[in-house]
Amino acid sequence: RTLDDLSAAAGKAALVRVDFNVPMENGRVTDDTRLRAALPTIQRLRDLGAKVVLLAHFDRPKGERVPSMSLAPVVETLEALLGAPVRFAEDCVGEAAKAAVADLDPGGVLLLENVRFHKGEEKNDPAFAAQLAEVGDLYVNDAFSAAHRAHASTEGLARLLPAYAGESMRRELEALDAALGKPVKPVIGIVGGAKVSTKLDLLKNLVGRLDRLAIGGGMANTFLYAQGVDIGGSLAEKDMAETAREILAEAEAKGCEILLPQDVVVAREVKPGAEARTVLAREEIGDDEKILDAGPLSVERLTKAMALSRTLIWNGPLGVFEVPPFDAATVKAAQAAAQLARSGAITAVAGGGDTVAALNHAGVAKDMTFVSTAGGAFLEWMEGKVLPGVEALRR
Ligand code: 3PG
Repeated sequence: RTLDDLSAAAGKAALVRVDFNVPMENGRVTDDTRLRAALPTIQRLRDLGAKVVLLAHFDRPKGERVPSMSLAPVVETLEALLGAPVRFAEDCVGEAAKAAVADLDPGGVLLLENVRFHKGEEKNDPAFAAQLAEVGDLYVNDAFSAAHRAHASTEGLARLLPAYAGESMRRELEALDAALGKPVKPVIGIVGGAKVSTKLDLLKNLVGRLDRLAIGGGMANTFLYAQGVDIGGSLAEKDMAETAREILAEAEAKGCEILLPQDVVVAREVKPGAEARTVLAREEIGDDEKILDAGPLSVERLTKAMALSRTLIWNGPLGVFEVPPFDAATVKAAQAAAQLARSGAITAVAGGGDTVAALNHAGVAKDMTFVSTAGGAFLEWMEGKVLPGVEALRR
């Protein structure tokens, strides 16, 4: 059920689970992407005359009231984005929360203090979920990026109150479905990042679903090593070589073409402007040299492969994009993807921590068809896992 199914909400308290786990420095929000993502749901509920009661976690206080992990600093930024006052309650349950809700006018917005200040949240304790349920009349989950957690505010509450998917949740699920659920074929994936070990389940799931998969970043080194390439002093998980070979064999059996870098950028040190050279991956790489990026030939081949595709799903950078010049492959590939997405040639969906930072660095995040706000939840979804927060809404 989405907000389209919600008609009689006037005067009711809508308990809206949002993800306000945002980057903060010295008590100020430094990236408001997740706050912006929540605005359509907040606005729609205000228009319906509901009391909008926002429920969220921040950081990992582990059930303790840690002052530096208060959600209070979010209020100012949210008010500026919303152009309306936002009240704050010092607790998310009990009298403080209930009194603040009672005091709120229809259309008003209230943010409750960090739900993870209570131990019952992460334990998904039914008694704590019941306390939360007392604060509202209905439940809206708009936090796709926290949906991989089976916590009281992401899972338990959906059992106790009439539950709806918010606008951001709905858009995330639609985009993910368009990318991996029922995609227009051919589908290409780009998976980068440092380690094969952290993305093993993801790679295994993808080779069974995609037509092509480009592997980049540090994990490509492990695959090259597994194929007998001398990777010099590059970082790699040599103990994962056998696993990498199994993934390659599985991809072949399932008709998924794997694109590994044909050429790479190597350097002796990882620092801005470091002296670098581009070599074919099968050429000699010195013992004191590390592979830090994919080379132009690899990017060209990847760009052609994207142009042959109708759907792209992207997670993880192709090189050490934080340290130029090792951002070149990620930036060029992102720009190529953005151009294809802008022209309508492909549906391009991206997500997962570093990926969004990399696309922002390339200046093209806004041009992708959809950029997920999720980190861990995006990865688990790409692994083919059931997300408890989504499942609870479907029940
Ligand atoms: C995130 O930032 O990815 C979500 O808010 C989940 O946070 P968590 O990893 O602390 O559960």
